[in-house]
Amino acid sequence: MSDDKIHFNGSHHLIHDFKHYQTLYQQSIDTPDAFWGEVGQRLDWFSPYTTVANAHFKDNHEIKWYEDGTLNACYNCIDRHLPDKANDTAITWQGDNPDTYQRITYQALYNAVGKFANGLKSLGVKKGDRVIIYLPMIPEAAYAMLACARIGAVHSVVFGGFSAESLASRIKDCQAAYVITADFSTRGGKRIPLKNNVNKALESTSDIVKRVITIYTDGDNDNNGNSGSNSHDYSEDIPANTEREIAYHTLINAQSPDCEPAVMNAEDPLFILYTSGSTGTPKGVLHTTGGYLVYAAYTHEVLFDYRPGELFWCTADVGWITGHTYMIYGPLANGANTLLYEGIPTYPTPARFWQICEQHRVNIFYTAPTAIRSLMTEGEQYATGHNLSSLRILGSVGEPINVEAWQWYHQHIGNKTCPIVDTWWQTETGGHMIAPIPYVWDQVPGKATLPFFGVKPVLLDEKGQEITAPDHEGSLAFKHSWPGQMRTVYGDHQRFIDTYFQTFPGYYFSGDGAIRDADGYIRITGRVDDILNISGHRMGTAELEDAFNLHPKVAETAVVGYPHDIKGQGLYVYATLFKGETPSDELKKELVAWIREKIGPIATPDKLHFTPELPRTRSGKIMRRILRKIAENDIDGIGDVSTLANPAIVETLIKTRIA
Ligand code: WTA
Repeated sequence: MSDDKIHFNGSHHLIHDFKHYQTLYQQSIDTPDAFWGEVGQRLDWFSPYTTVANAHFKDNHEIKWYEDGTLNACYNCIDRHLPDKANDTAITWQGDNPDTYQRITYQALYNAVGKFANGLKSLGVKKGDRVIIYLPMIPEAAYAMLACARIGAVHSVVFGGFSAESLASRIKDCQAAYVITADFSTRGGKRIPLKNNVNKALESTSDIVKRVITIYTDGDNDNNGNSGSNSHDYSEDIPANTEREIAYHTLINAQSPDCEPAVMNAEDPLFILYTSGSTGTPKGVLHTTGGYLVYAAYTHEVLFDYRPGELFWCTADVGWITGHTYMIYGPLANGANTLLYEGIPTYPTPARFWQICEQHRVNIFYTAPTAIRSLMTEGEQYATGHNLSSLRILGSVGEPINVEAWQWYHQHIGNKTCPIVDTWWQTETGGHMIAPIPYVWDQVPGKATLPFFGVKPVLLDEKGQEITAPDHEGSLAFKHSWPGQMRTVYGDHQRFIDTYFQTFPGYYFSGDGAIRDADGYIRITGRVDDILNISGHRMGTAELEDAFNLHPKVAETAVVGYPHDIKGQGLYVYATLFKGETPSDELKKELVAWIREKIGPIATPDKLHFTPELPRTRSGKIMRRILRKIAENDIDGIGDVSTLANPAIVETLIKTRIA
């Protein structure tokens, strides 16, 4: 079935019309080397590539793009723009405090990054070393990433909302000898002590971490008592001076802004980003330099129809892939002006996003459905009170956008004139995969529509056969490689193969389900594996259960998702306790505190249900399907339970369900 389509007046600066897209798309599929060989020219290479794709979805599962070319990502994001754009704004930074903002020019960015890069070098950071970045949304987060890229160090940004334990496990996994952090993170008017988490993480990683660089967010200071512009007493927050600690301002003070960019092979790692899987602990998704940057820049330009001089605002945190690709690497590689916002959507009022759009004259605005839904419930008066006439394109990412949220965004933010680019992609894909190219074809609310160039999606049935008939749901997989694809799981190539290529041999399997209509438009239906998507944040049920099960009173848990009006999915936790332990509100609180400490506040359960046992098959497997149905309150959907080993528990669970 095809739906009513919404047309947007306007034209795309590169893709003239639908026919043009089709021609280019066909070329990209039929002759990928020629297509991507040409697109790759948008970057500056120190030495050119002579091969383009060398990617295998079988056997060794090696993925290589532009493999004999050399370049530097930081050089491409800064230096090459200097002749034309030294005085143009590269980063518009808006503080949590509405009165605080900065416009950082390309020249200023060059200077800051060069000093930071030289500072890192002076500490001994070398090409290939892993550097953990645990920072709030301050300009230094961008400087830190680019400084690593400049010297060939591999950054791994850890979202500031993750706990000390999550941080420690990432430090251990990638053996990071360097950590860059800040004293505080400021959000919604509150100061959250970030460095304290680092201190805690260091308790179990002190044999790995050699140096910790701390940015003092409201002044220059370090443990040696060199204080700067303010009189904050840091003694409470920072442990006694050790060999390991150094203040950022001390580090960069005497450094030169000029730092020779390292010559990197296209396939040298650029960064590791940890993401949740359906089994085990989060895995280190590894992206390399050339293909990733080509793909980041090209998708940013095409899918947002980005034009020189425009202000682009991606509201994601730098700790997620969206922050990497569409706040830092894509926009800066294109010489854009990218906005970084420190705070939250609702501070000081739910008008904050729209106030920032008005104040800075944002042209392209890219956010998550969960943010739209939460602002929607506050009422449209917050949006209509602001002049949003600068907006030209809107974007959505992270989870399926429901039709109601799409319509609200369209009407109240886009004034019915801005295309909404619903971008489907993943940490693993590096950049957009399925999304409407603005103005090039008509849109349907809630549908990510058609694939980007070079991307060949297929829907597979349980037997792994490609579904060609329209309106049948299947597992979303991809037939060919694209330049932005992850290369491996850091330190565990077998896990890369097992996770993505084993379910459907010969295909990259996304873990999502999708349905395609008669026009070929794709609607993403959500994860088909045990990964939850809570407010656009990925969380593995196995990872959450493992963390809960470590609690001394907890025997076993099962975590499932259920539909949640604002978050998309809510977290429903079933817990059984060891003999002798009794459920209580007190214990509930204890478990909530526990998971926040083990993983972080984003893992806070919405509902915690104590139960004497979990429903199991005769072979002992937990029946998650039933637990999901109960959490969703779809009691009729439970079906026959007579084959369970303990069918009576289902009735009890229904009766005691947390509404
Ligand atoms: C989901 C975020 C529907 C999907 C970039 C995917 C989406 C997971 C969309 C990846 C979208 C992301 N429509 N679902 N436009 N975008 N997803 O790695 O389930 O944090 O597999 O990357 O988010 O989440 P990740």
